[in-house]
Amino acid sequence: MSRVSEIMETMEYGPSVEDSSAVRDWLAAKGEFGHFIGGKFTAPGAGFDTRDPATGDVLAQISQGSADDVAAAVRAARKAQRGWAKLSGSDRARYLYAIARHIQKRERFLSVLETLDNGKPIRESRDADIPLVARHFYHHAGWAELLDTQFPGHVPLGVCGQIIPWNFPLLMLAWKIAPALAAGNTVVLKPAEYTSLTALAFAEICQEVGLPAGVVNIVTGDGETGAALVSAKVDKIAFTGSTEVGRKIAETLAGTGRKLTLELGGKSPFIVMEDADLDAAVEGVVDSIWFNQGQVCCAGSRILVAENVADRFEGLLQARMEKLRLGPPLDKSTDIGAIVDPVQKDRIISICRAATDAGAELVGGNAAQGCFIAPGYLRRIQPANPGMQQEIFGPIATLSTFRTADEAIELANNTRYGLAGSVWSESATVATDLAARIRAGVIWINGANMFDAAAPFGGYRESGFGREGGRVGMLEYLAEPKVKAVREAEAKAPIVAPGSDPMDGIDRTAKLYIGGAQKRPDGGGSYRVPGGLAPLGNRKDIRNAVEAAGKATKWAAMGGHARAQVLYYIAENLSARAEEFAARTSRTETDAAIARAFHYAAWADKFDGANVQARSGTLVNVIPEAYGVMGIACPNAQPLAAFMSLVMPAIAMGNSVVAIAAQDDPLPVTDLYQVFDTSDLPGGVVNIVIGSKDELSQVLAAHDAVSAMWYVGSQTGLTQVERSAGGNLKPVWSPENRDWTKSDAQGEIFLRHAVHVKTVWLPYGA
Ligand code: NAI
Repeated sequence: MSRVSEIMETMEYGPSVEDSSAVRDWLAAKGEFGHFIGGKFTAPGAGFDTRDPATGDVLAQISQGSADDVAAAVRAARKAQRGWAKLSGSDRARYLYAIARHIQKRERFLSVLETLDNGKPIRESRDADIPLVARHFYHHAGWAELLDTQFPGHVPLGVCGQIIPWNFPLLMLAWKIAPALAAGNTVVLKPAEYTSLTALAFAEICQEVGLPAGVVNIVTGDGETGAALVSAKVDKIAFTGSTEVGRKIAETLAGTGRKLTLELGGKSPFIVMEDADLDAAVEGVVDSIWFNQGQVCCAGSRILVAENVADRFEGLLQARMEKLRLGPPLDKSTDIGAIVDPVQKDRIISICRAATDAGAELVGGNAAQGCFIAPGYLRRIQPANPGMQQEIFGPIATLSTFRTADEAIELANNTRYGLAGSVWSESATVATDLAARIRAGVIWINGANMFDAAAPFGGYRESGFGREGGRVGMLEYLAEPKVKAVREAEAKAPIVAPGSDPMDGIDRTAKLYIGGAQKRPDGGGSYRVPGGLAPLGNRKDIRNAVEAAGKATKWAAMGGHARAQVLYYIAENLSARAEEFAARTSRTETDAAIARAFHYAAWADKFDGANVQARSGTLVNVIPEAYGVMGIACPNAQPLAAFMSLVMPAIAMGNSVVAIAAQDDPLPVTDLYQVFDTSDLPGGVVNIVIGSKDELSQVLAAHDAVSAMWYVGSQTGLTQVERSAGGNLKPVWSPENRDWTKSDAQGEIFLRHAVHVKTVWLPYGA
C-alpha cells in the first residue's frame, strides 16, 4: 500500500473543468448571429464558422459584414450621436455604470464564452480579462460624470470606428467603447473574426441596460469588413492589431481629417539585472510571455539577463517552464491554453523555424496536437535573428545575455517597436535608470503585464501612437476647443533666382541654420522672397538637419528648469532687438514672438505628469516624455509669430526640432539665428531649413529618425505628409492655421502634442 506522502508525490492533478452548459445553451439557442445595428440584431447573413480552437468544434455562425452593413451601422451611430452627446455626463455615466454592473453579474458566463471562443485558460479570462472589463466601464463612467469640469471646451468627435484583435476580445472592446461613450461619441466596433462572440454578448448587455439604440453598433467580419469601416464616414478610427494593418490604415486615412489612434505590435524587452530577485523574475516571465499563450502585444518576449546570473536564471526558468500545464482551456488548473487559430499556430511555428535555421536553439516550444504549442524559449540567438526581431505572438521568448547596463539598454532598444518593457532589479537606482532609458510607452519595474483603466497604455515608434486609459486616453476621444481658423494662402512656387550661385559675386543670401551654425544650402541655390534672397534647401539639407537634431540629446536631459532659463534668455534677447524685428515684420508679430518665448519658458518645468490610482501596491507614474526629433512645417504667413508659436513649445518639452520656415517669407526667421546663438541654446536643438515647404516636409515626414510631425499648410500638403509619416507610423498633428499673434496660438494643447507619455509601474507599499 502506498503511503500518503508517496501518493502526494506522484498524484496527477484531477481535471477541474469549468461548467460551460449555460454558454453552450446560449450558443445553441442562437446558432447564427447577425450584426448589432441601431439597437437590434440583424438577420444573420452569409458568413463563417467561429470555432473553439481547443477542439476545433464549431461554436456558431458569424455574419461577414459588407460595406453596406458598415454604412448602415455608421448611419445608426450618426443618428444616435447627437442625442447621446446631449445627455448630461451624469446620465451617460449611469449607462456606463449599468454596463459595468451587468458585466459583473455575467462574469462567469462571459469568462467561459471568452475561453471557448479564444482558447485562453479560464483562470485568465475569469481573473484578468473580465474583471478588467468591468473596471474599465466603472472608471470611464467616472470620466463621463466629470467630463465638463475636467475637459472644459472639449466636445465629442462624433462617430468612432473601432477595430480590435482577438487576443483580449472583450477587454479590447472595453478599452475602446468605454472612453468613446464617456466622451459622448457613438461607436461602430468590428471584433476580430476569430473571436466575435463576447462582443455579441456585450450587444445583449447594451439591450439589457436600455442603452439608446445606435450608441453601440457591432459589425462582425474579417479584414475586408475592417477596411470598409476605415473607409466609412466616421470621425475617428481606433485600431489595435498588427503593424502591417496599422500602416495601411494610416495611409488610407491620410488627408481625411479623421482622428487616428494605433496600438500595434511589440517585441518588448524583459531585463533581469544581476541583483534581481531571480525567482520573482521567473514568475514575471510566466506572467509575461506565457500569459495568454504569449499572444500579448506587450509580452516581454525578449528576455535579457545579466551574464553572471544567466545560468542560474535559466535553470530556474526551465524548471518553472516544465511545471506549466498545457491543457484544455476550461480546466481551472490549465496554465497554457490553445492558440487562437491554426493560422496563428502555423505562423508561430514558421517564425521559430526561421529562428532555428538562423542558428538559435529552441528549448521546449513543441507543437502539440490541435491548436497547442508548449511554452518555450530561443537561446543562443543573435540580435539580427528573425526570432529576435519579429513578433512571434506565441509562448516563445528569446533569451540572451548582456554584461553592462548600457549593453542591456542597447539590446532593449534595438527594435522598431516600443510598446513596453520589464525591468528586474532590487536596486531602485538601477531599475529606474533603466526605466528611463528604455524607449517604450509602458514600463513595469519588478512586474509584468499589469493593466488598469487609469493607467495609460500605448506605444512609441512602430508600436503606434495614442494612449488608452486614464485622462490622456479620454483626450483621444475628444475634439480640442475650436479656434478661429484662418485660411492660408497657397505657398507660391519658389522662383529660383538666376545667378544666385554663392560664388557669383558677394553672397548676401541668408543661410540655413543647422547644428547651431549657418549653413549654405546643399544645392547652393536661392529664391526670391520679400526682402531679398532665401536659401533653397533640399532633401540633403533636411537629412543633415535631422542628423544634427538627433545629436542634441542633452537638451532633454537638461531638465525643465535649465530649458526654461534658455527660453527666458531667448525672450530677453528678442526683446532687446524688438525694434529690429518689428521693422522686418510688425510690432504685433514681434510682441507675439517674445510672448511665446516667455510663455513656454514658464511652462518648461510645469507640464507635469501624474501618479494615477491604479492597483494598490503599485505607484503608477504617467510621465510626459519628449518625442526626440520633431519636424515642424510652418505656415506661410506671420513667419515670426507662427515659427515661435510652434517651435517654442516643442523645445520647451525637450524635443529638438527641424523646422521649415514660412516658404513665402522666411527671412524674419533667419534673424533669429543670432538670437539663438546668444541665448545658450545648444547647437542642434533648433534647425531651420528653408525652401519648398511641401517638398521638404514630405522628406521630413518620411525620415525614420523623426518621431513626430506638425504641419500647418494646405490640404494637399497635409495629405502627402500624412502618407509619408504613415510609413513609419509617426503621429502628425495639424493645428488649424490661425492668427498666430492671438492668445489662442499658445497654451497647453501645443505642449500635449509635443510629448508622449510613458507609464511606469513601480512596487509601492506592497
Ligand atoms: P490583424 O492586424 O490582421 O487583425 C487585427 C484586426 O484588424 C482584426 O479585427 C482584423 O479583422 C482587422 N483587419 C485585418 N485587416 C484589416 C484591414 N486591411 N483594414 C482594417 N482592419 C483589418 O492581425 P492578425 O492577422 O489577426 O494577426 C497577425 C499578427 O499581428 C499576429 O501574429 C501578431 O503578431 C499581430 N497582432 C498584434 C496584436 C496586438 O495586440 N498588437 C493583436 C493581433 C495581432
